Amino acid sequence: MRVRVTNALGPMRAVERIGGLVTEDGLIEVMSSGQGSIGNNTNGQRELYGGSKAALDMLMRSFALRHALDRRARVLRAPRWVRTERGGPDARLSIAESIPKGLKTLRAARTRPGLQYLDDSGRTVPW
Ligand SMILES: NC(=O)c1ccc[n+]([C@@H]2O[C@H](COP(=O)([O-])OP(=O)(O)OC[C@H]3O[C@@H](n4cnc5c(N)ncnc54)[C@H](OP(=O)(O)O)[C@@H]3O)[C@@H](O)[C@H]2O)c1
Repeated sequence: MRVRVTNALGPMRAVERIGGLVTEDGLIEVMSSGQGSIGNNTNGQRELYGGSKAALDMLMRSFALRHALDRRARVLRAPRWVRTERGGPDARLSIAESIPKGLKTLRAARTRPGLQYLDDSGRTVPW
């Protein structure tokens, strides 16, 4: 429950409360994870974390559908494995390597209205 409240309900509360402050040509980024992809779940690992991100993806998708006339771009972002406190010391990318990749993806996504589920190479992640 704690993981789901933090990873799924928390971000959605923020999007619902303050998302309206984003300018019309702005973008709302929500940090999901590749592990939130049901389609890519081929190893059955980390299901509590992945399930919380899949829940976030579903909530965000419903939110986007309910606000379909809103032209602001929205991105569920799936960064690669990054050496943060959560990612741990064995992760492949440093924060300095990860941030530019994410920004490049977000800049490209900004011109496309609607919800996109993207990895840091700009590829669509299977839901
Ligand atoms: N690192 C990766 O490889 C990776 C991969 C895919 C997705 N992500 C996602 O990227 C996002 C950022 O993660 P990160 O890797 O940057 O992790 P991180 O360095 O461990 O940072 C996590 C952040 O979440 C905050 N936080 C934790 N529990 C919270 C709570 N209950 N309420 C409010 N804030 C809370 C922490 O705040 P405090 O500092 O105050 O504790 C911290 O700022 C997460 O959504 C994560 O799932 C990370």
